[in-house]
Amino acid sequence: MTTNQGTEKIIDESQQGTTLTLEKKDDNNRKLYIESYGCQMNFSDSEIVASILAKEGFNTTQLLEEADLVLVNTCSIREKAETTVRKRLEKFNAVKKTNPGMKVGVLGCMAERLKSKFLEEEKIVDMVVGPDAYKDLPNLIKEIDEGRNAVNVLLSKDETYGDVAPVRLNSNGVTAFVSITRGCDNMCTFCVVPFTRGRERSRNPQSILEEVNELWEKGFKEITLLGQNVDSYLWYGGGLKKDFEKATAMQKATSVNFSNLLELVAEAQPKMRIRFSTSNPQDMTLDVIEAMAKHENICNYIHLPVQSGSNRILKAMNRLHTREEYFELIDNIRKINPDCAISQDMITGFATETEEDHRDTLSLMEYVKYDFGFMFAYSERPGTLAERKMDDDIPEETKKRRLKEIIELQQQHSFYRTQQHVGKIEEVLIEGSSKKSDAHWMGRNSQNTVVVFPKESYKVGDFVNVKINDCTSATLIGEAIEYSKNN
Ligand code: SAH
Ligand code: F3S
Repeated sequence: MTTNQGTEKIIDESQQGTTLTLEKKDDNNRKLYIESYGCQMNFSDSEIVASILAKEGFNTTQLLEEADLVLVNTCSIREKAETTVRKRLEKFNAVKKTNPGMKVGVLGCMAERLKSKFLEEEKIVDMVVGPDAYKDLPNLIKEIDEGRNAVNVLLSKDETYGDVAPVRLNSNGVTAFVSITRGCDNMCTFCVVPFTRGRERSRNPQSILEEVNELWEKGFKEITLLGQNVDSYLWYGGGLKKDFEKATAMQKATSVNFSNLLELVAEAQPKMRIRFSTSNPQDMTLDVIEAMAKHENICNYIHLPVQSGSNRILKAMNRLHTREEYFELIDNIRKINPDCAISQDMITGFATETEEDHRDTLSLMEYVKYDFGFMFAYSERPGTLAERKMDDDIPEETKKRRLKEIIELQQQHSFYRTQQHVGKIEEVLIEGSSKKSDAHWMGRNSQNTVVVFPKESYKVGDFVNVKINDCTSATLIGEAIEYSKNN
């Protein structure tokens, strides 16, 4: 999860569990309770699941106690994410004592990682469904209805859900995710994602455009194009990214890459704000940065995880760029798009990381002065290349101390960045009430920084020009001046 967190926080998946609601579709009385953990893609996938199950007559409930079917969309990225899910399963077990007919299914990355082992390890679980198998849910549910356990963890070669219209769950009606690629081919040595989400494949641009147009018609004002690795988007008529070499000359000539897609979307809906996440530096090309500069509606914000500032560690992580190449990319972004905000993901205490490597990370951060950051202590994941080939040899307290140091530095940089907005007038899209005050709106500027200001007569979904008067390290505080021309 990358957008809704304060810069100073270590991401804690346990805080990200969200109950999703779904409108009643027909008279069928079965009740679905669904929770999601982890990345934006999981939240987006749960909207696909809700759509598939709505057709089966499931209404959602926020009351676990009355659920006929409980689904938990899981994350495997760090050990803590998995522990959180196991604790939830204990809770479901307790609830089952008063609601014995309740069935429990696990979806997502933990399902893919553990497969049928899940059924042995957690007796409460009836159904295990990997991220590419949600279309099979109606069949799997029939199985568990008949008293059998059900498992489908097949990974797919196609972009699996392009034809499923997601049901927007717990939506603010203003911002939405649009999934454009699935899987990841990068094989960073610390990361479990390539194993749980399979090979990279892209979605037909036509179906992406249709979804975006539909969202605009429903009143949405901002979309985030989602993928584990968005810049590597490539449509050549379907199939895996790695098979592009085998495509025909015609397919190659008419292929659509990420910067082409960005421009297509930006031009199709010139008033829709467009964001994208996540960019791996090794796949980000200058034409993406140029497309951002060319289209006012593509937001000035890039999430550009680097993980470490040390060339030796970058290599051990199989990140296919050096520190110097990363600086070159940052310089190009600043040159072409001077107002662009940049954020990072960082890992401390990866196998063999020395104090010198850690200092390289701090000095890289000094160079970039990121606007936001999401920082983690290294958590060894079963089955990854690092787990198989390297010793997780950095003591926990060292990982934590280094983490604390980078978080403190990021906080200083975030404050430095927010201060640069004070005194300016910036366009803000209103998303909802401020968490701290019902008299204030909360929205974001183009750079993705949270802005709060008195409500006056403005409403959710308005684009407003806001004069920024003050700031904290995470929030800009201002007053609305007028409607922006983009309404
Ligand atoms: N491309 C992905 C990134 C994957 S996971 C995306 O779309 O967000 C998000 C972040 O989790 C990574 O950038 C990395 O900083 C962190 N992460 C991944 N594996 C990790 C591990 N084993 N231990 C600690 N942090 C990890
Ligand atoms: Fe993971 Fe690296 Fe892909 S962090 S999601 S393997 S880009």
